[in-house]
Amino acid sequence: MKVLVIGQGGREHALVWKLARSESVSEVFCIPGNAGIAADATCVDLDIGDIPALVSFAKDTSIDLTVVGPEAPLVDGLVDAFQSDDLSAFGPTAEAAALEGSKAFAKEIMRRGNVPTADYAVFETVADARHFLDDREDQAWVVKADGLAAGKGVLMCRNRDEALVAVEEILVQSAFGDAGRKVVIEQTLVGQEASILALVEGNTILTLEASQDHKRAGDGDTGPNTGGMGAYSPTPLITPELMAEIEERILIPTVHTMKLAGTPFSGLLYAGLMITKQGPKVLEYNVRFGDPEAQPVLMRLKSDFGKLLKAAADGHLSDFGPLEWDPRPSVCIVMASDGYPGSYEKGHEIRGLADANSLDDVHVFHAGTTSENGRIVTDGGRVLGITALGDELAAAKQRAYEAVKCIRWEGAWCRKDISDKARQS
Ligand code: AMP
Ligand code: GLY
Repeated sequence: MKVLVIGQGGREHALVWKLARSESVSEVFCIPGNAGIAADATCVDLDIGDIPALVSFAKDTSIDLTVVGPEAPLVDGLVDAFQSDDLSAFGPTAEAAALEGSKAFAKEIMRRGNVPTADYAVFETVADARHFLDDREDQAWVVKADGLAAGKGVLMCRNRDEALVAVEEILVQSAFGDAGRKVVIEQTLVGQEASILALVEGNTILTLEASQDHKRAGDGDTGPNTGGMGAYSPTPLITPELMAEIEERILIPTVHTMKLAGTPFSGLLYAGLMITKQGPKVLEYNVRFGDPEAQPVLMRLKSDFGKLLKAAADGHLSDFGPLEWDPRPSVCIVMASDGYPGSYEKGHEIRGLADANSLDDVHVFHAGTTSENGRIVTDGGRVLGITALGDELAAAKQRAYEAVKCIRWEGAWCRKDISDKARQS
């Protein structure tokens, strides 16, 4: 089977790497890819926003399965376009991708399906939002732009005044452009976060092993929010009993309600959860693999990934048996450019990649890299995801940091405490 992966980050490198190692897969292409992906796939330089060009490429190259990494092309209808040309593509239609593309839509689905989440309200005017806030106790709120905002549209507010400033920033100053035509105001939830990824098709839900991301830039969850500075899997936070509860109270009703709404979901459903004292509650849905969660989770998957995604794309996921996992835990540490998540330089030469990759049970996934005159240089904020397996979580962590030490470029940094949260669960 010839497979095409769309995207260029660490998640896409993990997808490509796993697909290239699947028995069912003979060849992997990636649009546009990066310097690390080029070692596992043929990279093709096309614009991922140009859906007709992607359809033509898939047809001309006789691609058997297309796997979409990021959310934007899904929300823009890539899967719809592929399907109407009889091309097999893994991921939701544009209507179902609204689960990530519109936070108001996601909240409405949760409300209808009785899925536990923070209490909320949706507004299109500052006056209505002010009324709502004035009628309630002064408390901490989370204010969110409705649409896609590259992970930046969520503003944590300590009180009513901050919430009003956030509402104005989104609705009046258009800080997130069209994504901010509506705002969701919701209660602040307290607890530990976990990422639950599940393959969904029809009534079939195959839940992957749980993982935990580290969104803040600084050790001990301090500093600004980022795309994710590291992740590990499995997490002791999600016991088998809790996973059963999550499936029963969150995943099944979500999939069921999407069907009732006339927007059946197919693809990867990512539930970002807060594990509160009252049980698990949904913070957000994503409609694609998490980044960096995909790196440690896929490092542990033993089932044929190509076959699995093809079954989901073609409507027979229910034929697929239970997933097989490497029981060993894995840890992924993101190495980033100086300045990230703010502005940063690109083009610094990266050394030591081969040394890191030569360590047992280590794989270096590239997130923001490119080739320049035969050298591999930085090309993004999050640059690499160093991922390692170990017999115990502590051994996986130690191995991953050993690999990090092999790698150097000007201004490289990472968090030093990835996976330590496991000890707090
Ligand atoms: P979202 O894109 O909705 O997941 O929000 C990004 C991050 O903001 C989450 O991973 C949480 O850390 C935080 N967050 C979002 N909603 C809430 C909430 N209701 N209570 C507490 N933290 C939240
Ligand atoms: N790691 C968070 C995300 O992929 O959205």
